[in-house]
Amino acid sequence: MSKLEIIIVPDPVLKETAYAVDRVDDAVRTQMDNMLETMYEAPGIGLAANQVNMLNRVLVIDITRRAEEEGEPNPICMANPEVIWESEQFSVMEEGCLSIPQQYAEVQRPAIVRVKYLDYEGKEVELEADGLLSHCVQHEIDHLNGVLFVDYLSSLKRNMILRKVEKLKKQEVL
Ligand code: NI
Repeated sequence: MSKLEIIIVPDPVLKETAYAVDRVDDAVRTQMDNMLETMYEAPGIGLAANQVNMLNRVLVIDITRRAEEEGEPNPICMANPEVIWESEQFSVMEEGCLSIPQQYAEVQRPAIVRVKYLDYEGKEVELEADGLLSHCVQHEIDHLNGVLFVDYLSSLKRNMILRKVEKLKKQEVL
């Protein structure tokens, strides 16, 4: 496994729409392994292909490794994820993003979603997600469509966050 470089805003690859994979082969599995390693090391709870400069519809999630909470790892690898149902109820949660480091904001999303995807073995599976996992899955699928969590905020708030990241970059904190 090898660690990948995480792309930070502003970068055009984060605005691109990723393309569907034909199937989950060894190359895609290696990519998933490398993305998981990169995500755990960051540390983060989700990572999408765009964020490591790849443009296929692949993402990884593990919400058990949140902050200092140390749980048993429970990695979820998805290829070609698709929301097939969403609840009418909404949920508001604070989100962050490895591509927008150290910035957080509340984002409103459908509270529960059902997602269809190809797993690590290439098998088609469905997952119903609520709470943090629901936000995380929707956030990562957004990445594959070139959408960032700051795109849900007012332009004032969004620009403020992007300027802060720019400043961190200049200070070489990142
Ligand atoms: Ni993100």
